[in-house]
Amino acid sequence: MTISERSDGPSPALVPAKKHDGEALLKVTGLRKHFPIKKGLFQRQAGAVRAVDELDFEVWPGETLGVVGESGCGKSTMGRLITRLLEPSAGTVEFEGRDITHLGVGAMRPLRRDVQMIFQDPYSSLNPRHTIGTIVGAPFRLQRVSPAGGVRKEVQRLLSVVGLNPEHYNRYPHEFSGGQRQRVGIARALALNPKLVVADEPVSALDVSIQAQVVNLLDDLQQELGLTYVIIAHDLSVVRHVSDRIAVMYLGKIVELADRDSLYRAPMHPYTKALMSAVPIPDPRRKNAKSGRILLNGDVPSPISPPSGCRFHTRCWKATELCGTTEPPLLEVRHGRQVACHHPENVDDPAPPDAALLTATKEAFERLWTGDPAGSEPMR
Ligand SMILES: Nc1ncnc2c1ncn2[C@@H]1O[C@H](COP(=O)(O)OP(=O)(O)OP(=O)(O)O)[C@@H](O)[C@H]1O
Ligand code: SF4
Ligand SMILES: [Mg+2]
Repeated sequence: MTISERSDGPSPALVPAKKHDGEALLKVTGLRKHFPIKKGLFQRQAGAVRAVDELDFEVWPGETLGVVGESGCGKSTMGRLITRLLEPSAGTVEFEGRDITHLGVGAMRPLRRDVQMIFQDPYSSLNPRHTIGTIVGAPFRLQRVSPAGGVRKEVQRLLSVVGLNPEHYNRYPHEFSGGQRQRVGIARALALNPKLVVADEPVSALDVSIQAQVVNLLDDLQQELGLTYVIIAHDLSVVRHVSDRIAVMYLGKIVELADRDSLYRAPMHPYTKALMSAVPIPDPRRKNAKSGRILLNGDVPSPISPPSGCRFHTRCWKATELCGTTEPPLLEVRHGRQVACHHPENVDDPAPPDAALLTATKEAFERLWTGDPAGSEPMR
């Protein structure tokens, strides 16, 4: 059995994914973070928040990977895991081919130069008692790096790179607007000439009018400095213009991963389609036929006890019995195009929701997913 493109629908293969022959800058395998929930006098573990559950993906040098999903789906946890600000419960993180999953503080220090993070809130992420010069210069002191020409000169250069007046070196964060403060955060992240920058909702705390400026700045800096980005956002409009590829997360899992153009042209996962059709989408059994909006039912379930089978089945309008019992793995339907769904959009349905076919389909899928030779290979 193969998953084949539907001839009457838009083809997801219109824009072929770029082949990456070299080594991934970052490679994540089976990455998991479960936060234990402790209860009672003896603080016994009563369960766990399954914030990130078995992520597999790569980030290629020079690209921007956008990561989107609703609040609580594990985006920030993923960002903190790949920058090693959090210790994973399982899985591995490789940077430039080296396993960095369990490196200690000392061994991580040189790597801290290469991997930097930009945080969501430019208000709380800058120490109000420090001048901008001190804040942007902090990485040099922490890493004991002496830039040629001195820290002050280098900080002033960085301020002008991000579009701030270098003369404002001695000013305090409260003297700057939100957009300017985020530029300070970007200057600080760039200080040590990193290879990978993970930006966690870098513009969501900013005025809409300022958001585009900051996104454009990140884009320009990428061209000039050859940076690689992972940009986290819950708003697809933020990542759309800057991402080469987009990973869509739902309840701790990646449900679709594709190059930007294919994803927008022909989303395969019903959740991606819903995310794209409307923002936000609270209620609903109502489907606005005119705008083509898909209105999702209910809230995101708790990551403490996620639904069985496909985690999206409690809200999915295409859910079948199979979806409630069998988890669909993230399957590469063709090079660079991965989706975790039994009945994906924009391809022939590999598991038609016909009751009579259900059992046979389920068995065939199990063979397909487990790689049993009795089943056919997934299409690549
Ligand atoms: N330190 C922690 N201890 C326990 N649970 C946590 C911790 N950090 C995050 N969580 C939980 O893990 C889940 C994922 O959180 P996370 O912050 O990664 O989501 P997110 O996608 O970034 O959400 P948002 O869009 O709101 O920022 C949530 O249910 C959250 O409550
Ligand atoms: S596997 Fe089933 S429930 Fe999950 S997204 Fe696909 S159709 Fe919907
Ligand atoms: Mg977050």
